[in-house]
Amino acid sequence: MISHILRDARKYEETMEKQIGKEARPEFHLSARIGWMNDPNGFSFYNGKYHMFYQYHPYDCQWGPMHWGHAVSEDLLHWEYLPVALAPDELYDMDGCFSGSAITLPDGRQLLMYTGMVKERQNVKVAESRDIQTQCLAVGDGIDFEKYKDNPILEEKDLPKGSSKYDFRDPKMWQKKDGSYCCVVGSRPEDGSGQILLYTSTDGFQWNFKSILIKNNNRFGKMWECPDFFQLDGKWVLLTSPQDMLPQGFEYHNGNGTLCMIGDFDEKAGTFQEQYNQSIDYGIDFYAPQTVYTPDGRRVMIGWMQNWDTCGQRTRNVLWFGQMSLPRELSIRNNRLYQLPIRELEAYRFHKVGYQNITFSEVIELEGIKGRRVDIELTVRPADEQNIYHKFAFRFAQNEKYQTSLSFRPREAILKIDRKHSGSRRAIIHQRRSKVNSEDGKLKLRIILDRFSVEVFVNDGEQVMSAILYTEQSADGISFFADGTVNMDIVKYDLIM
Ligand code: FRU
Repeated sequence: MISHILRDARKYEETMEKQIGKEARPEFHLSARIGWMNDPNGFSFYNGKYHMFYQYHPYDCQWGPMHWGHAVSEDLLHWEYLPVALAPDELYDMDGCFSGSAITLPDGRQLLMYTGMVKERQNVKVAESRDIQTQCLAVGDGIDFEKYKDNPILEEKDLPKGSSKYDFRDPKMWQKKDGSYCCVVGSRPEDGSGQILLYTSTDGFQWNFKSILIKNNNRFGKMWECPDFFQLDGKWVLLTSPQDMLPQGFEYHNGNGTLCMIGDFDEKAGTFQEQYNQSIDYGIDFYAPQTVYTPDGRRVMIGWMQNWDTCGQRTRNVLWFGQMSLPRELSIRNNRLYQLPIRELEAYRFHKVGYQNITFSEVIELEGIKGRRVDIELTVRPADEQNIYHKFAFRFAQNEKYQTSLSFRPREAILKIDRKHSGSRRAIIHQRRSKVNSEDGKLKLRIILDRFSVEVFVNDGEQVMSAILYTEQSADGISFFADGTVNMDIVKYDLIM
């Protein structure tokens, strides 16, 4: 039996999506079927397909009572929408089914764990009401899900002393080699900052508090949202999205930021010892990433290619809002998280145009290099090593009216993205600078454009900068600029799905 709230949402999205033409969506980034999308949820491989659920408010292009949207894919680039998976239709989740994760049970069913949100209604003024958050389960066959009879399965009584029942969300489960399950959940301790809690289960249904995996101690923002915790290249990695972050040097400029910690996990004690930390993305629009372990042994991450600080920038009356990042293959090198576009993308690269050893010291365009759905690899270096150039710029999504640019100042090793002329409703946040590794003025970039986004992979994935743009599609020019003399190799492919 499905509830009328879920049935209505399913009917609504099926009818309304017809109004959105193919051209009005990204080509290979998953976007909201209709209405609003935020965090990726339940990213998993189930019955031969990748499943991606997402925070979803079908009825508006603004955040609202959260449902779980749903899509599947075989290559993580072509997505097929499935009906809404979860709707806020029970007493324990009536104000929203917040973020969570998915695993496969031994009997072949798919298990979802999500945060049920209910606004506190008793003895409080509406303006002061807060969200009570608990963890809930739903079991299904990859399309239809039944909420578990004993929901919520984790609530206030399962919290360590002093932790807030108002900030307890975003469970990410995984299965251990011995068949038992673990789960990390974001939480807020007494100090008002964040912490990650670890829970364990033998069957996926009965969960017990194990330990505080790690405490923020007010170092990186406040509340830690959307944790993910996994092994990678012999280390353990904690990804989380802290709210209210302040910049530290060139790290953590996003307000609602992203944090990657690399370290060791004491499984017995259930504690994580962090050794290195960094931003996950150094651009403008990226938040709440989640990973999946693929059947061929890759750890692949997708984030919400948007950020709470920037999501006001599109016109209000649109049919969809919110898209996911490109899936990225993760690895650890030099104690850092490296990200590369999934290799599946290479099958869709056509019309190769390349130039080697182009030297220039002004604005140039190159025959055959343009487009808004392209994969570009370029390397720049000084033409004269004794006389390093001052600035190199790559300008794209360009016509007489618009342009977005990536500019690089080798002397400071700063790479800047600037999308102030990219069709946004108003200039809210349109620039981000990042310190990059560059020796003697050399820099390597891979730039991936889809209709409404740019993702820049710096130095073979050492850093990534993501940003969305709404520049009209006819603005497809690309040009290059040098102050000083730059030498460049470049290859461009059209991405055709
Ligand atoms: C992160 C977040 C999560 C929450 C969800 C609600 O973007 O705030 O913590 O579960 O969004 O939509």
